[in-house]
Amino acid sequence: MNPVNWLIGQSRRPRGLAGRLVAQGMNRAHFPMTDWALSLISLQDLRTVLDVGCGGGGALLRLTDLAPHAELHGIDHSTQALGVAARTNRRPVEQGRVFLREADVSELPYEDSRFDLIVAINSHYLWPDFEAGLGEIMRVLGPRGSVALAGGEYFGGKHDARNRRLASNGRMNCQTLPELRDIVSEAGYSGAVIHEEWHKGWFCVVGHKPVADAEDSVPPT
Ligand SMILES: C[S@@+](CC[C@H](N)C(=O)[O-])C[C@H]1O[C@@H](n2cnc3c(N)ncnc32)[C@H](O)[C@@H]1O
Repeated sequence: MNPVNWLIGQSRRPRGLAGRLVAQGMNRAHFPMTDWALSLISLQDLRTVLDVGCGGGGALLRLTDLAPHAELHGIDHSTQALGVAARTNRRPVEQGRVFLREADVSELPYEDSRFDLIVAINSHYLWPDFEAGLGEIMRVLGPRGSVALAGGEYFGGKHDARNRRLASNGRMNCQTLPELRDIVSEAGYSGAVIHEEWHKGWFCVVGHKPVADAEDSVPPT
């Protein structure tokens, strides 16, 4: 297998000792983009946040500072990545601020309407069924909750040629940003907005659980 495809395979699901190194490397490599994406979202008053495909847990650790009142949850389908996330977040896990679970985005182990914010950073284009993942995220988002999908793999940006090569070799499900916004809107999210840091080649798409759904979920008085 060529090295690029090997790396994409490890990003899709870190495995073995190499997977541990990859998860640690992702924490370092993705820090600036993660920080940029999180700066676009109002975090101060959040009470519950979920990071889907949390990898080595770098975003969760950053959120311990940026979302000071939030209970922080991370899921990943890689045991190896979760081991790194647990070490990265050792203190906040011990303090009961960060919770980690092994799970797939298509079957999130949480009750309906659990979270104020759900982030997926450098992850959605690796899911086997993107629309099913968005549906499951909608289910566990609380009234007026937000979803933020961020990363560097998309079409039409500064790294379009590289990303098209990677997507076809590594079978990644990339889109242009308008296509991504349409998919998010068609999945039922309202007010989907695209952010792009063109010079860095980063995107973040933010959408919201519609108010109609939120009102439906208010218990009758
Ligand atoms: C490229 S890594 C990014 C990790 C981290 N979010 C970051 O930005 O550093 C993608 C992560 O998503 C996880 N992942 C991919 N598909 C998944 C799925 N269907 N369900 C849960 N996690 C998944 C992988 O195991 C991997 O840890």
